[in-house]
This record gives sequence, structure tokens and C-alpha cells, in this order.
Amino acid sequence: MKIGFIGTGSMGSMLIDTLLEAKTIKEEDIVIINRTIEKAIKLKEIYPAIHIASDIEELTRQCRWIFICVKPKDIPSFTPTVIPYLSREHVMISITSPVSIHHLEELFPCKVARIIPSILNRAQSGSTLVSFSSRCTSTDEEAIISFVSSISRPLFIDENVTRVSSDIVSCGPAFFAFMAQRFIEGAVSETPLGEKEATELTTSMLIGLGKLLQEGYYTLPTLQERVCVPGGITGVGIAHLDQLLGEGFGSLFRLTEEKYATEKKKLAQEFQLK
Ligand SMILES: NC(=O)c1ccc[n+]([C@@H]2O[C@H](COP(=O)([O-])OP(=O)(O)OC[C@H]3O[C@@H](n4cnc5c(N)ncnc54)[C@H](OP(=O)(O)O)[C@@H]3O)[C@@H](O)[C@H]2O)c1
Repeated sequence: MKIGFIGTGSMGSMLIDTLLEAKTIKEEDIVIINRTIEKAIKLKEIYPAIHIASDIEELTRQCRWIFICVKPKDIPSFTPTVIPYLSREHVMISITSPVSIHHLEELFPCKVARIIPSILNRAQSGSTLVSFSSRCTSTDEEAIISFVSSISRPLFIDENVTRVSSDIVSCGPAFFAFMAQRFIEGAVSETPLGEKEATELTTSMLIGLGKLLQEGYYTLPTLQERVCVPGGITGVGIAHLDQLLGEGFGSLFRLTEEKYATEKKKLAQEFQLK
């Protein structure tokens, strides 16, 4: 079965790289299209057997599963171009959180699913957030779950927690990378340690931390208890972090909620969705 990708930007190409590396799919079974053709050509230079569709009609003719890997703001311009070529058997798979399953059903006259990936999937790890339309059969669902399981841990989520779940799964790696970067900058600015060394030490610390949690040696609280000896150096650091973080991450989640609501409203207005 051939699989189509509309949009070969950051996430579209990440999914293709990972699915090929995991041998979930063969190069010759991938059909791509991108607004700026050069980006698709660049991907084909890496994977010569990938097929670049000449237009959306060709892509829909060749593929039953089609991943929509464009930014939410580009969905209004692309959707009318694909609708005339969709049959009831196509499965349009959106990877973006602001477009709900309900909206996808309104937009496309076929089966729809939402698979929200994470950059962590590039290492065949992390989760994908999965939701299906009732138009999908159990066979469709099983096949799609098996497909995404090859590169991630699929998690089923309710619509009311989609946003916060995607903040954690998809945005979380960038949030924690940002904090790690600031951690490194702090060490470099206040001590003789160089940036390269601080980055190496921080990176191996983060990998080790992930392994400890993965293997279940500690939970987040028990790990802190273990390292933080009363009256010791870690304790001073943690007390300072507690002060620095103030109200904690509530405001971050409030801001992402606002941004999500704005994007959702804009899309609903553009498409006159309910
Ligand atoms: N970044 C993440 O970690 C992450 C995680 C989960 C979900 N997502 C979701 O992934 C989606 C894509 O994000 P991204 O970071 O990959 O964006 P991106 O790098 O901008 O890629 C989007 C691609 O879609 C192409 N495109 C736009 N309109 C098109 C059309 N009508 N036909 C064909 N191609 C079209 C763009 O082409 P051009 O080359 O012309 O710009 C671009 O290459 C977003 O909806 C985002 O919410 C992202």
C-alpha cells in the first residue's frame, strides 16, 4: 500500500525519515507533494525511490492513507484542492492538534484520523496521540495503530485533553531543551567550564535521567529525594529553583491554551465549521 504525505517540511520529513529507518514502509511506497517543489526534490535526493506526485489528484489516486503535514494556517488553502478526489475509502490523517476529529469529519468526505507526533519519534521513542473518527473501521484502526507503533507509543486521548497532551508530548521536548540550554548558559557564565563541556555533561545527564525513569529505578519525586541530601548542595539549588519558578508552569499552560483557542477559532471561522 502506498502512503501519501502532503507537506514535507519539518514534521513530514521527520516522519518519512523515521518510518524508513524503522523499515515500516519502503521508499517506493511513499508519495509526496510539497507546495515548494524544491523541498520535495531535496527529500527525493536522499531517498531516490520516493515518488513526487505531479499534483494532488495523482497523490490521491495512488494512496489510500494520506498524512496532512501542513501548518494549521495552510489547511484552508489546501483542503478544497483535495476534496474532489477523495473517495469514502481514503483515510486523511491530520497531525495537528487544533483541528479536532469532529472538524476533520466536516472537512473531508472520507475516513479521518488524528495522529499527533513528537520530535521524540525521530529516535523511535516518545508517544503519538491518536484519535479516530467513527467512520474508521476496526481494521483501519488496527492497521494505523500498528503503523505508528513501529516508531512510537500510541496513546488514545479524549478531545478535552488533546491540547494539554500535545503541549506535553509535542511541545514538551522543545520546552525542556530550552531549559537545558539555559542551564548550560548558567554554568558557562558563572564558572570556568566551557560551553562544549557543559553541553556534553548536560546531554549525558539528560540521557541518563531518561534511562533511570524508563527503567523504573526512580520516579521523579524519589529521584529528587535520593539526590537531595538535607543541607547539601542539591538542596540549595532546588530551593533556588523553587523560588525562580514562582507560580510554576501554570502560566505556560494558560498561554498555550490561549494560542490553541485562537488557532482553533480562526480555522473554524475560515471553514465555517460548527
Ligand atoms: N513541530 C513539531 O514538533 C510538531 C509536533 C506535532 C505536530 N506538529 C504539526 O505538524 C504540522 C506541520 O508542522 P511543521 O513544523 O512540519 O511545518 P513546516 O516545516 O512549515 O512544514 C509544512 C510543510 O507543508 C507544506 N505545505 C503548505 N501548504 C501546502 C499545500 N497546500 N500543499 C503541499 N504542501 C504544503 C509547506 O511547504 P513550503 O515549503 O512551501 O513552506 C511545508 O513544507 C503542523 O500542523 C504542526 O501543528 C508539529
